[in-house]
Amino acid sequence: MRTLRDINDLRSTLRAHRMRGQRIGLVPTMGNLHKGHLALVARARQHADIVVASLFVNPMQFGPGEDLDAYPRTFETDQTQLTDAGCDILFAPTVSALYPNGLDTQTRVHVPKVGEGLCGAARPGHFDGVSTVVSMLFHLVQPDIACFGEKDYQQLAVIRKLVSDLHMPIEIIGVPIVRADDGLALSSRNGYLSQQERTTAPMLYRTLCELRDALERGESTAEVLQRGASLLTGAGFTPDYLELRDETLAPVTPATRNAVLLAAATLGPARLIDNLSVQLPNATSSH
Ligand code: PAF
Repeated sequence: MRTLRDINDLRSTLRAHRMRGQRIGLVPTMGNLHKGHLALVARARQHADIVVASLFVNPMQFGPGEDLDAYPRTFETDQTQLTDAGCDILFAPTVSALYPNGLDTQTRVHVPKVGEGLCGAARPGHFDGVSTVVSMLFHLVQPDIACFGEKDYQQLAVIRKLVSDLHMPIEIIGVPIVRADDGLALSSRNGYLSQQERTTAPMLYRTLCELRDALERGESTAEVLQRGASLLTGAGFTPDYLELRDETLAPVTPATRNAVLLAAATLGPARLIDNLSVQLPNATSSH
């Protein structure tokens, strides 16, 4: 695997591959890789001849008071894992390479509606930061396909909308959540949890499973969500949101069958997010 830090090196390397007719796959990451990221690389491998992973802790997507400085940086281990996973190129630019004029005057990409509410409400500007850096990576790499984890469900929806609205010829592939044996969705932020909090953390997934089953039995959405919030609070979480949306993140209607249950909750120093798809039964008065 080649590690490239320079934009011109990346462009000339990829130009050569493109001229040979090779398909390029991109896996954008912020590093501190776990099995969830490696599943993205494996999926990209299935769809592309050349797999490029990017590693960039993007300051634009962190709000004031968020964990930009604390965000785990494990470059050497990440490099080894990517090599072992069969990644061909690691693009790891510096902040000044991507934002040479700083953040204040930087052109930003804003995806309306789908980026509002849920994590967009709790983290103002977060999805503009994501959309901007992902657009930049798409322009630099010009991939045929790009893989993103379904754990960040709203991020995936934002990126799909961005690619569609800006007519980018890139296929966006969502990759299922990878979980620990106890159900906790893998996340770089799980490392912030104490041993005790780590024991509690899978309650988020278990609660979502319980709520999904209740919704699929036809129980009232409002009651189910209220019960879920109490369960989480009782377990020691501070819930940020617990919502049922349709697959596109629009509000559910009586006609909705394929829905998604989305949650974000803080546990100690970590803000955890998770989601689960729900097959709603035929419309009843409860929906
Ligand atoms: O999901 C992430 O790790 C980041 O939001 C991404 C997509 C790499 C953009 O910085």
